[in-house]
This record gives sequence, structure tokens and C-alpha cells, in this order.
Amino acid sequence: MAETSDAPHRLVAPAIVGRDGELRRAVDAVTASPALVVISGEAGIGKTRLVGELAAAASRAGRRPLAGRCHALREPFPLGPVIEAVRGLGEHLGELALSPVAGALRPFLPELAHVLPPAPEPLGDRAAERHRAFRGFVDVFAAAGPAVLILEDLHWAEEQTGDFVGYLLAESLPELSVVVTFRPESVDPRVRALAAGVPAGTGVADVTLAPLGPADVGALAASIIGVDAVSAEFASYLCERTSGLPFAVEELVALLQERGTLVQRRGGGWARRALDELDVPTRIRDSVLERVARLGDAARQVAEAAAVLQVPVPLSLLVATAPLERAEALRAVGEALESGLLAEHGDDVGFRHPLAAQAVYEDLSGPRRLLLHDRAATALAAAVPTPAGQLAHHLRHADRLDEWVAAAERAAEQAFGLSNDTEAVRILEDVLRHAPVSTTTPERRGRLAVLLGEAAVEAGRAQDAAQLLGAVLEEDLPAPARGELRFRLGGLLHDAGTELLRAHQLFADAVADLDHRPDLKAWAMVVLGIPMAGDGDLAEHRAWLRRALTVVPEIPDHAFQVFLLGKIAMVQLPTGDPAWRDTAGRVERQTGGKPHHRREINAYWSIGTQATYAGHHELADRLLTAGLAAAAGGDGARIETRMERSLRSGLVLLRYCEGSWDGLAEDAAVLMDELAGNPRARIDGEAAAACLALVRGDLDGAAAALTAAADLADELSGFDLLPIPAAALFRLAVARGEADAVLDRARRLLAAAEPKGVLAPAV
Ligand SMILES: Nc1ncnc2c1ncn2[C@@H]1O[C@H](COP(=O)(O)OP(=O)(O)OP(=O)(O)O)[C@@H](O)[C@H]1O
Ligand SMILES: [Mg+2]
Repeated sequence: MAETSDAPHRLVAPAIVGRDGELRRAVDAVTASPALVVISGEAGIGKTRLVGELAAAASRAGRRPLAGRCHALREPFPLGPVIEAVRGLGEHLGELALSPVAGALRPFLPELAHVLPPAPEPLGDRAAERHRAFRGFVDVFAAAGPAVLILEDLHWAEEQTGDFVGYLLAESLPELSVVVTFRPESVDPRVRALAAGVPAGTGVADVTLAPLGPADVGALAASIIGVDAVSAEFASYLCERTSGLPFAVEELVALLQERGTLVQRRGGGWARRALDELDVPTRIRDSVLERVARLGDAARQVAEAAAVLQVPVPLSLLVATAPLERAEALRAVGEALESGLLAEHGDDVGFRHPLAAQAVYEDLSGPRRLLLHDRAATALAAAVPTPAGQLAHHLRHADRLDEWVAAAERAAEQAFGLSNDTEAVRILEDVLRHAPVSTTTPERRGRLAVLLGEAAVEAGRAQDAAQLLGAVLEEDLPAPARGELRFRLGGLLHDAGTELLRAHQLFADAVADLDHRPDLKAWAMVVLGIPMAGDGDLAEHRAWLRRALTVVPEIPDHAFQVFLLGKIAMVQLPTGDPAWRDTAGRVERQTGGKPHHRREINAYWSIGTQATYAGHHELADRLLTAGLAAAAGGDGARIETRMERSLRSGLVLLRYCEGSWDGLAEDAAVLMDELAGNPRARIDGEAAAACLALVRGDLDGAAAALTAAADLADELSGFDLLPIPAAALFRLAVARGEADAVLDRARRLLAAAEPKGVLAPAV
């Protein structure tokens, strides 16, 4: 009879088995940066293992590996794995030559703030903030020298991580290679499509890991057991029962060793029983559970706690979650680590593999799960900083629902505060749908719904959220919450463009409840002041705008005051309200003729373009020129690229209307190239370019360009701009004797403009 060795068995093969070709392709790509390596395959197939070998090879070739991973339980902050990768640089971050934009990373890496540049001025624009954070991360990776950024498990990534990887790859950093891994069955299609979008010149290796064949399974088993080889018969037996999944091979071999079925003889040989005596489980789940059952009682309890915690956590947290006395828990963690069921992941402890955690969790009884979720929640609530996502998850599953709602609200606020809008929407929708009404107050539900309304607009998810907001509005809410919620729902419907009349009714009803938020109150009035087809008479709209003008001075944010004044004048002018001059004057006075903030520049643009359409060229020139100077970064201001292009586009049209045509066609052509794909900003310049074709006598070119410009204006409801290209088109058609075409377009133009009471100055 063979003897059993007392030494702990080896669980993992010391060297990687059977992935030579895959590894070579990945290493070749990584060492010829810029490059993207995509490693995909099912859970337990060996992605992390391959990445480990790849990182070691890259390191030997003088490239610094920077690694981060996504987790099954998400935290509110975006870009988790990217942040983790930068965090891996630690204090070295201070030695890199970073540009000021890296200061934007401070909120993501508070513990490294002292080695980052100073925090830049807030931008007051979420998309711009997000973009600046992206640039900050790119700056770090560009400065990190030859490096490999490894982002694991992107099937659990929130949206921004995938967006960031696309953005980073587009930068083609010459010394950076990027490696991503994911399980293909559950990954976002945009992540899957990353390889298709890389710029020319970036190397791509697409590595799909397939199950191991019998020979490799045999080699893997032999390597784990520590022998030269196993028999071909045993190899194919293992391969069949594990489907060639390396993780399953490890678990099965570990089980056989623990059972004493595979035993080392003294002197290095080994023995096993006949295959038909083995009685081996065919599911990973059963091997894992049998291994857990073989642990001592305390170690088993620790394993169960780790399974409920689901992701690796600091040791103290695992100890506090296990229902054991501290010293015993610590000893038991040691035993579970030794068995190889648990493993250390950096500073954290958790299951060696998530598949094993899942098997143990699924086997727990309901009351046992509840108890452990409860202990996990209590332990997490005391952690600093609190992982809000994990805390909310455990409170919910511990049935502590009122606390869950409170934690979820904090998590959503944190997500929204970091511009992680999709995550905020996900959390809020979940709570509003699933928290029983009895566990929340109407006040809180009102607050959650308001935040959902804000986040959904930012995330472009208006339609889904609208129904939930409507349902909460049915409840008996306090007036301020009701006002804000009506305002947000009105905004959602307005953006979705589906129920405009209902949106207007909501805005109108909101006004009475918004005394505490003059910004929203005035904003609602401005929206009500905009003539839309078929929604009331012009006098009513005009009255809303005048009311808005009286609320604007109460708004604490002065840039927002100017922004709204710009919108008011923008409507007053084409609808023939003489008050527009006074409103425009207020904008100039309040900004001293020089806008600074993006929203002030926006007001200059709004009024400047309308003044162009209406023939007030001198004013248009003053506003557009001052706006452009500010947007282009004059006086040391920040460059506002989007505004800058829109203003240039407006100025091209103004020059056309003034008759300053020298070199204008060339300027317009350059601008149109820059604005490809941005129809809203293009629209003015495109109209001008089309009119210029007519001026040059290029009749065929002009006909096509004018028709396209008029159609674009029509499509974007640019009823105020439309008369300019349309009038040019009329002249052309009349000259060619195409009266029918003129009449047809004129009818369409009038149909668009008439119900809105808009003057059509150029017609
Ligand atoms: N080619 C291999 N040679 C030796 N061991 C391997 C090999 N592939 C995987 N393993 C082992 O199998 C186990 C599972 O592999 P790994 O953790 O890399 O899977 P994964 O694809 O990353 O799974 P998941 O999607 O869950 O992250 C690990 O312990 C790993 O060491
Ligand atoms: Mg993995």
C-alpha cells in the first residue's frame, strides 16, 4: 500500500502548458508597440495564466507591466481597472514627466494626489470633464515609458472602460501595448469590436483560448503532481471529465490527491488506483464542494464567508465576516489558503478562482447566506473608504432593505459625481424597481427619481427612465421633490422628442413648485417660451419668456444666467419680440462684452447666429468675434473646441451674408472638413458654402449643395436658418425656369415656419 505524503499538494503547474503558439503571438505583438492583444475564452480556460506569462516576458524585454482588473461586484467609480493599473505605479508616478492635465486624475487616485499635478479648474461640463480625465490617463501611459497595460475581465467592465480603451488605442502611443481579456459570451459588443477599430500601424493579436487536448491535459496533470508524465489512458480520462478546462483539471487533481487516490511513493514514484475505481465528479462544482467538505469546520466557514463576499477583500474583512472568534478565524484562513481553495490576490484574500466561489455560494442554504451577507455588510460598513457597491449588494441580500436603499443612493450619488452616469442609472433603476415601497419614504423615492432623471439624460437613456419617473410622480411627494421631478421628466420627454405636449405640461406644472431652484424654474419657463408646432399661441410663449426674465436674476450661478438670457434672446429675435434687444444688451453688459465661461460663450453664439439670420450684421459680428476669441483660448482661457467650431461656422455664414466673399469658399471648405460628422455645428457654414457655389456660377454644384443644406436645416429644425439656403435655391430654380420645385419648397418652408410664428427675413 502506498503512503500518503503530509506535505501540502501542489495545485498549480509551475510552468504553463500547451500555449506556446498563443504565447508567442501575444509576446511578438506586445513587444512591437503600439499594439493590442485580445485574449478571450471561457471562465477557467487560462486567460489570466497566459497574461501572467506575457507580463513576465514583457518585463524581461524591458516593458513595464501595468495591470488592473474588473470585478463581478462593481464599485461606483468608472475606469476601475485603468485606475488600478495606474495605482500600480505608486510613488513612481511622481517621477514621470506629467503634463498639467494629469491633475484631473486626483479624484480617481486620492491616495496619490500628492504626486500628481495640481487639480485643474472644474469645467462645469460632464462630457468635457470625462474627456479631460481620459486625457489625464493617456498622459500617464505616454509618460510611463515602454509599458504594457493589461486590463483583465472586461466582461465585467462598465461602459467607460471600453470607451477609454478605444480612445487610448486611437492615440497610438508608440511605447504602449494594450492587453485585454474577457469571456466572450458575456462581453459588451463594443469591447469585442475594439480590435476592428485600431488605427493603421497598431499591431493586433487576437488570441482565442480553446480547451486543452488530452496530451496537454496529461502534461498539466503531470506537472501539478510533479512527475514526468502520466499515462495516455489517465490523460484522456481526465480530459473527458474536465472537457479540457485547465481550472477543472487542477480541481480534479487536487481532489484526487486529497482523497489519497494519487499518492507519492517514497523515492519519487507515484501510484494511483485503477481508473474505474476513481469515481470522479464530472462537474467542477462537485470537486470544489468535496474539497471544501474536507476542510476543518472553521476553514469551511471561512471559505463560505469568502464565497459570499464574492470578490477578494482585505484579510480583516474576511475575518470579520466569518462567524468565528478572531484568532480561530485567522488560523482557519491559513488552512483554507494552504488547501489552495483560497489565494492571496495582492493585498486581498479570496477564492483562487471565481468559479469555485460560485460553486460554494450556490450550495449554501438560504439562512446561511443571509447570515453571512449580514456579517459582510456590517464589516463593510465599517471599512474606510467604504466600497459602496459591495456594501449595497450585501445589505440587499441580507434583507436590510431600508439600509440597502440608503447605501444605493450614496453609491449612485458617488457614481454620478464621478460622471459614471450609466452606473448611476443602473443602480437607481434597480432600487426604484425592486425596493418595496414600504422600505422608503416618498421623499427619498422622489430624490432617487430626480437623480435618475439627471443621470439618464447624461447617459442617453431617457426613454427607459421616463416610465419610472412617471410612476414615482403618482406618489404623494413633497412639493420641492415634485417640482424637480416634473422638471426632470419633462426634460427626458423633451430630449426623447416623443411626447412634447406632455413634456410642456410637466414644465408648466413644475414652475409653481420650483421656488427653491430658480435655475430650473427659469429654465422650464424658457422651454415653455420656445414655439413648437401646434402648441399654443405666440403671445403665450412670449409671456413665458418675459416671466423667465424676471426669475433669471435669482439664479446664483452667473454664467448660467447669461446662458439662459442667450436662449431667451435667441427665441425673441426670430419671433419678432422687440424685447430681444434688451435681452441681448443684458448679455453683453453682464459679461462686459467678453465672455469667459463656456455657457457665456454659448450665449454669444446663440444671439450672434440669430442676428446673422435676421440681418443685424454689426451685432452678429461683435458677438461671434468676441465669442470666438474666448473659445479659442484668448486671455489664457481654456480652449472650447466645440464652441470654437460652431462660432467659426457662424462667422462663415455672416461673411457670406455681408458680402465679404474673398477667400471665403476656401475657409468654408477647411471648416467643413473639420466638422465632418457634426451636422449641428456644420449647418451654418454648409449653408454659406452652398450659397457661395451659386455666387461662383457653379449652377449644378450649387443646386446639389443648396438642396443638401436646406434639407439639413429642415431635418434639424433649423427653421430660422432655412430661409437663407432656401432663398438661394429659389433664385436658382427661378433662373432655370423650374417653378414647380420652387413652389414645392416654399410651401414646405412656410409649413415649418408659420405655426411657430417665425419671421422669415430672407424670403
Ligand atoms: N496553459 C496552462 N498551463 C498551466 N496551468 C493553466 C493553464 N491554463 C490555465 N491554467 C490554470 O488554470 C486555472 C484557471 O486559469 P485562469 O485563472 O487563467 O482562467 P481564466 O481564463 O483567467 O478564467 P476567468 O475567466 O474566470 O478569469 C489557473 O489556476 C491557471 O493557473
Ligand atoms: Mg482570469
